[in-house]
Amino acid sequence: MFINREIIDQVGILTIDRQDALNAVNPHILKELDQAVKDFIADENVGVIILTGAGEKAFIAGADIKLMQQLDTQGALDFGKLGQEVTMTIEDSPKPVIAAVNGFALGGGCEISLACHIRFASENAMFAQPEVKLGLIPGWGGTQRLPRIVGKGNAIELIIGGHMIDANEALRIGLANKVFPLDNLMNEALKFAKLVLGNGPNSVAESLHCINESAGHSLIEGLNLEVEAFSDLFGTDETTEGLMAFVEKRKADFRS
Ligand code: CAA
Repeated sequence: MFINREIIDQVGILTIDRQDALNAVNPHILKELDQAVKDFIADENVGVIILTGAGEKAFIAGADIKLMQQLDTQGALDFGKLGQEVTMTIEDSPKPVIAAVNGFALGGGCEISLACHIRFASENAMFAQPEVKLGLIPGWGGTQRLPRIVGKGNAIELIIGGHMIDANEALRIGLANKVFPLDNLMNEALKFAKLVLGNGPNSVAESLHCINESAGHSLIEGLNLEVEAFSDLFGTDETTEGLMAFVEKRKADFRS
């Protein structure tokens, strides 16, 4: 087992724990991660998911390079597809997934963080897509998600440079949403999770869905999707409660 699971006040915390390899991931860990995210998505005691790395040095130092040395093109295709599948499971989660990036987020580790809905970074976090240094390219969505998050120019600079950037530079280009001292990172992630948990779960899920879908659609298609999702919420218990709570000057109770 390389992934620790914990639930604190409706927040499901997944910690990748392979510290002797700076939490680098192999197919076994990818499958475990995929299953753990799916289990939390299905678990009604979980409303928000946090993904982090064990120790104080690494979130995930990437795909396992020693393992990749053994791969032929078919093996690489399978490994690439598996990594992409996991990132899709994370990105498609109707429950927000927060990456608490507590150190190195390199290569596949950066790509896994990109699939998360939000990235909170510790001050010692370092991000990179260093694949070109290994004669590779990003294989788990980096060429597609990074430009969508930081813009094409910043993504090209990072991907063809292969260099590391620190947390403040990640913040500047929009790769990190926020930066905190390492010993405060989980508290801040939990605090944001709590904020989200107070909001309508269907509203949150539909927002994520519309935002994710917008990437592959024209503006008009995206607007149509949005207005359908907007109107579908009307008449649901959640929306009725949210609107009524405002009018009655009280806090909405979405989860009882
Ligand atoms: N795969 C396998 N093992 C890794 C690893 C990785 N991605 N990253 C670190 N490790 C291992 C090291 O080999 C070392 O193991 P040993 O003690 O058995 O030698 C251990 O973790 C500790 O690492 P270092 O001694 O190198 O630690 P450091 O503090 O000197 O350096 C580092 C830290 C700068 C992160 C360095 O380990 C490093 O550059 N790692 C590789 C990062 C990388 O290139 N990641 C991208 C992989 S490609 C990819 O992910 C493709 C994709 O798109 C899917």
